[in-house]
Amino acid sequence: MKISDAMTSAINEQIKAEFDSAYIYLAMSAYFEDAGLAGMAHWMKKQYREEVEHAEKFIDYLYERGARVIIPDIARPKESYADALEVFRTAYAHEQYVTSRIYQLVDLAISEKDYATQSMLQWFVDEQMEEEDNTGGIVSKLEFLGGDKHGIYTVDRELSAR
Ligand code: FEO
Repeated sequence: MKISDAMTSAINEQIKAEFDSAYIYLAMSAYFEDAGLAGMAHWMKKQYREEVEHAEKFIDYLYERGARVIIPDIARPKESYADALEVFRTAYAHEQYVTSRIYQLVDLAISEKDYATQSMLQWFVDEQMEEEDNTGGIVSKLEFLGGDKHGIYTVDRELSAR
């Protein structure tokens, strides 16, 4: 069964959203490098790479379905933040936004009875749950620390193990 034009363009928009996410995290990594928080910089760089992989998953899926992939412009990300907590709060809110986008894709796939796309999207539904859990967990820790420098240093060391 041929993938619809509406689904193809919605997935192409999601490819852009994944590259935009990658750039947002790469900029967060650069912010942390500059702030001397090498563990958080490392964590964000890994996140950047994961987002590129997400974009590639969608690209490969469109190839598999014989649909045209549009390589998008990438939006310039925000480059400065008040502190680590603001960075992770922004990342957490961003992941919630991405989850809402994935759910919209699922809604479209269901309305079109596009079972192949629904099946592909299930991986992203699970991945989003994990990403929200990870970023939300770091936000909770940093909120608990309330700017305590020793605590932030410990979290930085923890995140270097990702
Ligand atoms: Fe590709 Fe973090 O969602």
